Amino acid sequence: MEPRDDMIRVLGIETSCDETAASVVAWRAGAAPTILSNSVLSQIEEHAAFGGVVPEIAARAHVESLDGIVEAALADAGLELSEIDAVAVTAGPGLVGGLIVGLMTAKAIAAAADKPLMAINHLEGHALTARLTDGLDFPYLLLLVSGGHTQIVLVRGVGDYQRWATTIDDALGEAFDKTAKMLGLAYPGGPNVEKEARKGDSTRFAFPRPMKGSAQPDFSFSGLKTAVRQTATAIAPLSGQDVADICASFQAAVSDALADRVARSLARFREEFPDVALPALVVAGGVAANRKVRAALEAQCAESGFRFIAPPHELCTDNAAMIAWAGIERLRAGLTQEDAAGFVPRSRWPLDEVSQPVIGFGRRGAKA
Ligand code: KG4
Ligand code: ZN
Repeated sequence: MEPRDDMIRVLGIETSCDETAASVVAWRAGAAPTILSNSVLSQIEEHAAFGGVVPEIAARAHVESLDGIVEAALADAGLELSEIDAVAVTAGPGLVGGLIVGLMTAKAIAAAADKPLMAINHLEGHALTARLTDGLDFPYLLLLVSGGHTQIVLVRGVGDYQRWATTIDDALGEAFDKTAKMLGLAYPGGPNVEKEARKGDSTRFAFPRPMKGSAQPDFSFSGLKTAVRQTATAIAPLSGQDVADICASFQAAVSDALADRVARSLARFREEFPDVALPALVVAGGVAANRKVRAALEAQCAESGFRFIAPPHELCTDNAAMIAWAGIERLRAGLTQEDAAGFVPRSRWPLDEVSQPVIGFGRRGAKA
């Protein structure tokens, strides 16, 4: 690809779950990258009545709004389609209906404007965001904690990832959402659990810290969820204070277990990369918004001698700027795809194709 000037401008499109998003990101050698626009339309209201994301509703909402969101992203960036150098689109993992909408739209735009198309792995978008926001150098560790994923990934380079840990059962966001549901709190549960927890006593219930102390680096949250259910059933009917105390105790258990699990991988990184003077842990995904979780991770990083990097909230959760940026990274690395127009959406698409699934993993995974 030969840009007209020394700047690369990529249009990114993201429709893998319940956010319809488009963004234009620009990069030029020697300067910090710029997010020229970042349009996100959340479907939370459409799904709230059902207590979770309904794939058919999501796909229809993407169809209805994607064209307008792409137009808005170009208008906000002050650019015509002809001034874009490439189109990058999330091609997986995620809900297949939404992926099809995004990929077909991106293929049509790229073909009509005669621009290269790049099929991007959504997880790669999360993995590379810290280079967009903080100019971080490789290698570093990524902790992805969202509604569908709980993983620690070694980010060695563009397209070069190694999964070091994953959940053997529920994703952390899922544990928050299920806990919220059990306690009668509205969807999405995570923010509501955090809000209730602020009024609660985190020492009232001694919930388990799953896998704490285990030599295996993986995560587990289903036992914790069961313990919450048993407690809630045992003391029902729940008062407002009971709900707050359960939320606070749940969050304390989550934070404690997470820090312990993460510490394993931080130690491994130190062993494998002794020459990296100031190693970094980057956190991404909706759960990274939780202040208790963040504080626990920050404290663990300080103890292990790591920088703790949390991109701004709107770039931690699903967005298209990270997809446009992954496109730019791929163009710069010479990883263009001649066959992207024939790319078929992948509902499952691990970043690290080599690592085997761990036992119990993969019961859910539509969300990333
Ligand atoms: O990354 P994300 O926006 O979407 C995907 O899963 O792709 O993450 C959403 C998840 C949900 O499970 C939500 O409950 C959780 O992140 N979440 C939180 C908080 N905000 C969002 N969990 C705990 N505390 C929060 N403040
Ligand atoms: Zn995501």
